[in-house]
Amino acid sequence: MTDTAAALVERLTQIVPDFPKPGVLFRDVTPVFADPIAFGRVCEALAAPFAVGGGFAAVAGIEARGFALAGGIAAQHQVGVLTVRKAGKLPGEVLSEQYALEYGEAELELRPGQLEPGTRVLVVDDVLATGGTAAATVTLLERAGYEAIGFAALLELDGLSGRERLEPRLPVATLGAV
Ligand code: PRP
Repeated sequence: MTDTAAALVERLTQIVPDFPKPGVLFRDVTPVFADPIAFGRVCEALAAPFAVGGGFAAVAGIEARGFALAGGIAAQHQVGVLTVRKAGKLPGEVLSEQYALEYGEAELELRPGQLEPGTRVLVVDDVLATGGTAAATVTLLERAGYEAIGFAALLELDGLSGRERLEPRLPVATLGAV
């Protein structure tokens, strides 16, 4: 039988205790990227709920694992990629947003002016936890003049309210909850 995208994510994701620091149970999805069948299939599944209606004209990938997913989805849909990066990585004019992470604080940046104002952008990452990273990304996209039409991730972590935080702003779809 053919595995669904959700089944592939569940089977291939590796659980790593105490990473990146003691007490944190890290979900490593990179084996999903490394598997040639799983990677294409999860990219298709992530984008499917957002390809209807007005669709999307670009995919924003959040550093770091969101980059791989954004590239795969963008190639399948023949659209471009925006890279939402950790602070200090992008040259020239940047928009910056600080945010609280599940463990620690961080800042994301986006180069404005790369797409037409009003461009419909799908936001992609590997994991949705508190939603702080995704919320900061949506704010950056809005500040740049784009329309964030949805957020897609491989996994969402139950009990951290990421979905509740994001859904007032945009539709959310994931391939599994843990
Ligand atoms: C992880 C994950 C998401 C974010 C989710 O990234 O890849 O981007 O945390 O957490 P949140 O919903 O609580 O904001 P991390 O900041 O660890 O960076 P990395 O991708 O560079 O490892």
